[in-house]
Amino acid sequence: MEATPQFLGRNMYGLEDYSADEIMYILEASKAMKEINLRQYKKIPTLRGKTVCTLFIEDSTRTRMSFELAAKRLSADVVSFAASISSLQKGESLQDTIYTLGAMGIDLYCIRHSSPGSPQLVHKYSQKPVINGGDGRHAHPTQALLDIFSIWEHVGNLKGLKVTIVGDILNSRVVRSNLIGMKKLGMDVTICGPRTLMPPNMDKLFGCRVQYELREALRDADIVMGLRMQFERMTEGLFPSLEEYSKHYALTQETIKFAKSDALIMHPGPMNRGIEILPEIADSKQSIIVEQVANGVAVRMALMFLILGGKL
Ligand code: CP
Repeated sequence: MEATPQFLGRNMYGLEDYSADEIMYILEASKAMKEINLRQYKKIPTLRGKTVCTLFIEDSTRTRMSFELAAKRLSADVVSFAASISSLQKGESLQDTIYTLGAMGIDLYCIRHSSPGSPQLVHKYSQKPVINGGDGRHAHPTQALLDIFSIWEHVGNLKGLKVTIVGDILNSRVVRSNLIGMKKLGMDVTICGPRTLMPPNMDKLFGCRVQYELREALRDADIVMGLRMQFERMTEGLFPSLEEYSKHYALTQETIKFAKSDALIMHPGPMNRGIEILPEIADSKQSIIVEQVANGVAVRMALMFLILGGKL
């Protein structure tokens, strides 16, 4: 496999910039990368001499670590920018931070930031390709790619699949990226949550169905994805209590019965066990939550390979 010119040097700000065919090409490349990940010796020399910077100015476990592992498996050098011990703490701007990192020869940035649009700023200051690892409530395209890849691996044909995404829709960048990617690939998506956590016009903006009643939303679903309650983004009490939220919206043995009996259970993580999903569902045979994490490495390898022009 060789990276095709259409991906070379491109940014991955969000899936709106990629066609359905391009998304499928990324999934095919992820399959090849997953095979490398399953080998005893997991490393290939394709990006030797390239340098990848993970610039995480917001907390993360799986996204940051999988970007770093992905780069290392492709033999790129990796520098990990830790905001809490950086000169950002002394008041250095993002612009000067990027100029400083650029002087050291970075070829690709993977960024997470609480401000929407920060990946575009990093590209403006660096003139290097940027992969968005989550910008505020806006987008998390590599999470959506790994989610869609995980479904594709299990189900094959994505067209017409019924997907139900449940939880804190208001604060979720994961749902926005999944809606864009899934709709492009012909999937039939329903989103569900309390009215206070549901932004207006989601149906018109994203071509999805909006449901406020969990059992109705889950009816005959092929795929069920729980979303984390994002307490850190909530500035006011948007529902009476956690108990009240769980009573109406938690994925439990009782509520999941409304989905198809072999429905796949997903969650982007991190999970609030006992709030949006009960452990018996998160750890059930139908759950592919751990696989999602593993696939994150393969999908991020594929993107780096394509953007930096790797050869297999
Ligand atoms: N899914 C996700 O983005 O997880 P992290 O915050 O741990 O990266």
